[in-house]
Amino acid sequence: MEFENYKQLWDSKAGSQADALIAVDGSSDESIVQSNGQFTAAQVIAALDIQPHDRVLELGCGVARIGRELAAVCEHWTGVDISGKMIARATERTAHQNNVSLHQLNRTSLEMLADNSIDKAYSIAVMCHMDKEDLYLYLEELKRVLKPGGMIFIETWNLAHPVGWKRWQYEVNHWSGSDQSVRKDVSRNQFCTPDEFELYQRKAGFELIQTFSNSPWVQCIATNQMDAANIAREQQRIEQQKDTIAYSILFGEMFEQTIAVIYGVIHPREAIEFINKHQDTAEAELYRPFVEGIWNGNPQQWGEIERTA
Ligand SMILES: C[S@@+](CC[C@H](N)C(=O)[O-])C[C@H]1O[C@@H](n2cnc3c(N)ncnc32)[C@H](O)[C@@H]1O
Repeated sequence: MEFENYKQLWDSKAGSQADALIAVDGSSDESIVQSNGQFTAAQVIAALDIQPHDRVLELGCGVARIGRELAAVCEHWTGVDISGKMIARATERTAHQNNVSLHQLNRTSLEMLADNSIDKAYSIAVMCHMDKEDLYLYLEELKRVLKPGGMIFIETWNLAHPVGWKRWQYEVNHWSGSDQSVRKDVSRNQFCTPDEFELYQRKAGFELIQTFSNSPWVQCIATNQMDAANIAREQQRIEQQKDTIAYSILFGEMFEQTIAVIYGVIHPREAIEFINKHQDTAEAELYRPFVEGIWNGNPQQWGEIERTA
C-alpha cells in the first residue's frame, strides 16, 4: 500500500501550490480556483446564512479555496485540515487576510477550538474521503464547538442517486481484483445514502433542517439546538435559496460526463461537446476547464487537445 494514512496521502498531493490547487479543484490556474471558490462559497453563504458577525469553521479546508472567499464576508474564518502541506498552501493564499486562523489536525479532534465557539461550520468534498468512524467523530466534535442555535452544512457522495451509484460502481470496479492482504487506500471515496448520512448527524446530536439529495451528492443543513420556530424560519429561507445551494440537474449531468472521461469510458471531446450545448451556464464555466485539464494532462491517451468551443 502506497499511503498509510490520510496525512501522508494529502501531503503528497500538496507538495507545491500548483499540485495542491489541482488536488482540490482540478485546475492549477489561480483565477479558475478563485472563480470555483466563489461558486462554492455562494452555496455555503446561502445554506448557512453567513453574516458579517459570524465565526465560521471549515473542516478539511485544503488550500482555502472556499475560505479565502468566505473570510471576506464573515467576522472570523478558521480552516482545519489533516494535511500540514495543505495548511501551508492555505496560509500562503490567505496571507492578505487578518481574520483567518489555520490549524493542522492530528486526529479526529478539534481540540484547538473551545466549546460553543463557532457560529457556523461546513465541510465540502472531505467526508467522502474518510472512514465512517472518523466522519462520526468529527460530527461529535462539530457539535461540541458549535454555539447553541449554530448550523452546519456538510455533504458526501449520494449512493441513492443514479449518478452517485454509477460513481460507486467505478469505485467497485477499480478495487475488483485488488490485493486483499493489504488495506485499501485510506482516502478512497466513501458513499452514504441520504438516510445514513442524516442518521450520523442525528446520533451526534444535530437536528436536520434540510437535505438536498437530487444529485450525486447528499447535502445536509443541520442545527445544534435551534427552537422549532427558528427551524421553520430557516426552512423557509433555505427553500427560497435552494437553487443556489443544491447542485442542479445540469451540474450532475456534467459530473456524469466528467467521471466517464476520468475512467476512460468516453473521450474528453464528447464531454466538451455536451458542455458546449450548455454554453453560458455557470455549470459549463466550472466543468470546461476541468475536462480540458484532464485532456491536456494526458495527450498519450487522448491526443493533443483540440479547439472545441
Ligand atoms: C478534495 S479536498 C477539498 C478541500 C476544500 N474543502 C475545498 O472544497 O476546496 C479534501 C481536503 O480534505 C482534507 N482531509 C482529508 N481527510 C481528512 C481528515 N480525515 N481530516 C481532516 N481533513 C481531511 C484533505 O487534506 C484535503 O485538503
